[in-house]
Amino acid sequence: MKPNEYDLIINEAREVLTDRIVKSENTGRFLYTCPSPNIYPHQWLWDSAFHSIVWTYFDIENAKQELITVVKKQFNNGMIPHMSYWRRSPSFIGRVTDWIFKNYPEKDRSSITQPPVIGEAVEIVYEKSNDAKWLSKMIGPLIKYFNWFYSERNIDDDGLVVVIHPWETGMDMLPCWDQFIGVKKLFQVRSGLWLNRLIKRYNRVNWNIKKIIDMDLFVVKDVSFNVIYILGLQALTRLCEKIGDNENAQIFLTRSQQALKSLEDKSWNSSAKFYFDLYSRSDDQINELTVSGLFPILLYIDKKRAKLIIEKHILNKDEFWTNYPIPSVSVSSPKFSPKSSFLLWRGPTWLNTNWYLIKGLLKQGYKQEGNELIKKSIALINKSGLWEYYNPITGKGLGAKNLGWSTLIVDIIQKYLVKKIE
Ligand code: GLC
Repeated sequence: MKPNEYDLIINEAREVLTDRIVKSENTGRFLYTCPSPNIYPHQWLWDSAFHSIVWTYFDIENAKQELITVVKKQFNNGMIPHMSYWRRSPSFIGRVTDWIFKNYPEKDRSSITQPPVIGEAVEIVYEKSNDAKWLSKMIGPLIKYFNWFYSERNIDDDGLVVVIHPWETGMDMLPCWDQFIGVKKLFQVRSGLWLNRLIKRYNRVNWNIKKIIDMDLFVVKDVSFNVIYILGLQALTRLCEKIGDNENAQIFLTRSQQALKSLEDKSWNSSAKFYFDLYSRSDDQINELTVSGLFPILLYIDKKRAKLIIEKHILNKDEFWTNYPIPSVSVSSPKFSPKSSFLLWRGPTWLNTNWYLIKGLLKQGYKQEGNELIKKSIALINKSGLWEYYNPITGKGLGAKNLGWSTLIVDIIQKYLVKKIE
């Protein structure tokens, strides 16, 4: 395929990102890119990291500014919030959602975090911009954020970090969380009330992490979250080496190795041949086949396990290799639901997870299969355009139209197809 065959998609992605720019009310300058003006008007942590990666192809200044804006809302203890509220929601639906969920102590940001994709994003933006001054502004907050994970969320010193709210995983309503909500059949209102109550309970203890862990309402070592955390630690190691901070480079390298070892020791289930999330202080496994458990192929895991994850699960038509892969939940699960729903992440295909798993397949030497997933992801966009998520069987676009991070297709095209041809 020639590069210009992708021009249509690339131009559309540029328009989508440009359309989602939110400017500062004071200076009129670029502030951040919102995922969707009506449904998600605020700044979201992992969305912004993905947006910054795509902005490197269109406007490097926006890429840099997107991440500078993210760290402006960092808490003193180092945590970066999953949402930053820079403005009032412009739409009615946005204001209703804010009213239900915005009862955190801080008015302008949430008190939970999201997958730390920002570690890799800073490295990518730095490599493309070569801007040492920008890196010097980003590196301090980044080190502080990753140190916060280690001191606050590494609760039993195994190097893995816990999440305390389903939304921290970024995969809001995966079937893995049903057991915490405690209902046999999950309804939108029930789950919304439960999430709201969880926030209120945490408010009551002032978000004190020790008390939250003792309450044990939702304490999970999520597989994909930890893989992204490890990738972040590895990126941070390289960044610290680059700026001559060898002491921190060594610290982050050791932490990444420890976390990987614990993931291998605790999450792998040898009968299901899958990596499962762990919950509670006892590290019990949550036996659900979801996209999260496929993420370890992004790391140098045991070769035999990588082979099993890829050949037994990813490439299996009865699990994850649907017409338009990769679904967020295995087709074999009774909870798999491919359609549009307010209960997100219960079956549809998302482009940000495909972006990761393409890298994983190629890293493990599955070139043909990686290329196949690239082709299928492009086919999805050619068929339906840019959407929040897709029906993995029919390829129909679902959720918010033109969601910001679906423009990651540009990175996929540029990195794996255009460069290869040049
Ligand atoms: C949904 C997703 C979450 C994302 C947000 C904004 O809530 O589940 O991961 O950050 O939308 O796009």
